Amino acid sequence: METVVSGIRSTGNLHLGNYFGAIKNFLKMQHTHRCYFFIADYHSLTTHPHPADLHNTVKQVLVEYLACGIDPEVATIYIQSDLPETAELYLLMNMNAYVGELERCTSFKDKIRNHADNVNAGLLTYPVLMAADILIHKAKYVPVGKDQEQHLEMTRQFGNRFNRIYDVEYFEEPVAFNFGTELVKIPGLDGSGKMGKSEGEGNAIFLFDAPDAIRKKVMRAVSDAGPTEENQKKPETIENLFTLMKTVSKPETVAFFDEQYNTMKVRYGDLKKQLAEDMITFVAPFRERILELSNDNDYINKVVKQGAEKAHESARKTVEEVREIIGFKRFG
Ligand code: TRP
Repeated sequence: METVVSGIRSTGNLHLGNYFGAIKNFLKMQHTHRCYFFIADYHSLTTHPHPADLHNTVKQVLVEYLACGIDPEVATIYIQSDLPETAELYLLMNMNAYVGELERCTSFKDKIRNHADNVNAGLLTYPVLMAADILIHKAKYVPVGKDQEQHLEMTRQFGNRFNRIYDVEYFEEPVAFNFGTELVKIPGLDGSGKMGKSEGEGNAIFLFDAPDAIRKKVMRAVSDAGPTEENQKKPETIENLFTLMKTVSKPETVAFFDEQYNTMKVRYGDLKKQLAEDMITFVAPFRERILELSNDNDYINKVVKQGAEKAHESARKTVEEVREIIGFKRFG
């Protein structure tokens, strides 16, 4: 079985776009690969989260992934900071990561632009920490989006450079996991192409959203003045509403509104009302499970402990081997 590693950002709640994108793939992958999913809380420190918030944010993210169906008995799900071996490998890999290449990294340049007041060394070496996350389990596949491809390329670079410096064939090249054509892109509610948290308030439907919040957001979704001809091609904003409907509503419902659109009888108010109710029904079991898990600290603690133990096994082995290759020897 080939190994997969994926880091999960510890900010932000899951929305339908996450669910129909990466998470559905995680759910499948956990049965076909040896998966390590971890919550990247070390990485989150680059933005200096408040100590009073850190733990709860991590817990919320963990709970939401579990609520989606990541099975801790099948996949290994752990908290990054529970695996200090990652920090050790990061330190070791930092010795052969060059400042020049780190400064040229697109994500670093973006950060400088957007957070000029906090350009810390952790930001500069973010790709080294990410490489440590991946190399520590000798991952073959990393399911990441386009925005992370450069980081993955740097991971390969660091692994290869390690091999060259120490004249070994230790690290193999991890590659991006190809989601194939199955990846469904979920549009946002504001007429923008993509559902996302950073696209602004009201654009995303979160798995933890209460019914009223969903109704409010859906009723405010962007539409237009209505079709002006029978069977006309739907403009993007309207197509987006139908795409959303296809993910949560019954095929008959979609067909009904499609027919209404084609015969110019459609009333967007009715369409949105229906869409909101179907979204509420879709999200309800997730919301319930999130609430249930949030209150079950015994279970959560067990999952975290078990995840850390499983991750340790593979991490310890890598760090021991790397130390040996580098030339560290135990005294006595
Ligand atoms: N940088 C990734 C992101 O922003 C998160 C991440 C950290 C990651 N370490 C990783 C992803 C290791 C894959 C593998 O989404």
